[in-house]
Amino acid sequence: MSKYAKNQSVGFKNDIEKVAIVGAGGTIGSHISNALLATGRHTVTALSREGSGNKLPEGVRVAFVDYDDEATIVAALKGQQFLIITMAPTAPRDTHSKLVQAAAKAGVPYIMPNGYGADIDNIQLGEDTLLGPIAKANRDEIERLGMQWITVCCGFWYDYSLAGGDARFGFDFDKRTLTIYDDGNTKTSTSTLSQVGRAVAKVLSLNELPEDENDKSLTLSTFLNKGVYLKSFVISQNDMFESVKRVTGTTDADWTISHEESKKRYEGGLAQVKVGNMAGFSKMLYARAFYPDASSNDLSAKAQNELLGLPDESLDESTKVGIDLVKELQLRVERMAA
Ligand SMILES: NC(=O)c1ccc[n+]([C@@H]2O[C@H](COP(=O)([O-])OP(=O)(O)OC[C@H]3O[C@@H](n4cnc5c(N)ncnc54)[C@H](OP(=O)(O)O)[C@@H]3O)[C@@H](O)[C@H]2O)c1
Repeated sequence: MSKYAKNQSVGFKNDIEKVAIVGAGGTIGSHISNALLATGRHTVTALSREGSGNKLPEGVRVAFVDYDDEATIVAALKGQQFLIITMAPTAPRDTHSKLVQAAAKAGVPYIMPNGYGADIDNIQLGEDTLLGPIAKANRDEIERLGMQWITVCCGFWYDYSLAGGDARFGFDFDKRTLTIYDDGNTKTSTSTLSQVGRAVAKVLSLNELPEDENDKSLTLSTFLNKGVYLKSFVISQNDMFESVKRVTGTTDADWTISHEESKKRYEGGLAQVKVGNMAGFSKMLYARAFYPDASSNDLSAKAQNELLGLPDESLDESTKVGIDLVKELQLRVERMAA
């Protein structure tokens, strides 16, 4: 495809209207779907399994797919301009590939693959957390099949990770305990779920291509085969704790604090994963990101918030959103374990 809109065939519309999404009823997918719908510029079609218990946001169309029947996925993707994959990490490993292969057959040009985490250029972090090589293989497959990708590098989801229990940001709100890695001062990049949703909607609302060689405006094509970088807060556990105390009206005396060396915690989590105990996964992932030398986990220099016109957010309001998520995430763990 030529780089410019002026060279496209008659009838070409220089925008992304038809968006398909996997996981529209999921954690990040629901935020992305709602943000896309809020623009009024997109029709959003959820690819969802028949019998899925996940509730889809209002306004999303649904196309049921059977991952054991490729024809259903190809049919659902026909005519779609962009496929967003927000697939549960617990889904069978080959499900992502099934989607990508079906997208190629359906003629979808662009895919946002699973990811929504660390900087894809931070190879060491990716290898240490085991996620990097999987995500790279997913992106490579997209390219190999003649399509292009845009992946989201947002760091940890702030509200979700705050709410998600001791293995994530160290907070257990039921027991009022906090596990602090090292001295608790290491900062890591985070983005709220709603900021990620807004960022994706902004990118997909850009013109697809520059009109001609003189058009220097930001277009979707600027991001192809690259990460889109964003952040809400680059923050330490100690900063989070101060916010939690303000929001909950508690003091140090209400909390039981323990300290753990991040390296030791990472190694413990990794050892669990290696013997098939996935309870160690989050422990390993989050502890690694809080290594004291983890300045590489700070996305400030690469964040494109300004370019995309993303708003500044209130830390305490986001902390409150996180605390309100605690019960929901607990129910989800039970559902997954059942
Ligand atoms: N940065 C962070 O802090 C962070 C945290 C968590 C996750 N992530 C990443 O974000 C991505 C999405 O995670 P998420 O938490 O949003 O996912 P999720 O809500 O757990 O699940 C998303 C969707 O996956 C589909 N799904 C679930 N089980 C499946 C199965 N067995 N086979 C096929 N489809 C299945 C479901 O869609 P239907 O029911 O509609 O079929 C579900 O709505 C992943 O790449 C993950 O690594 C990042």
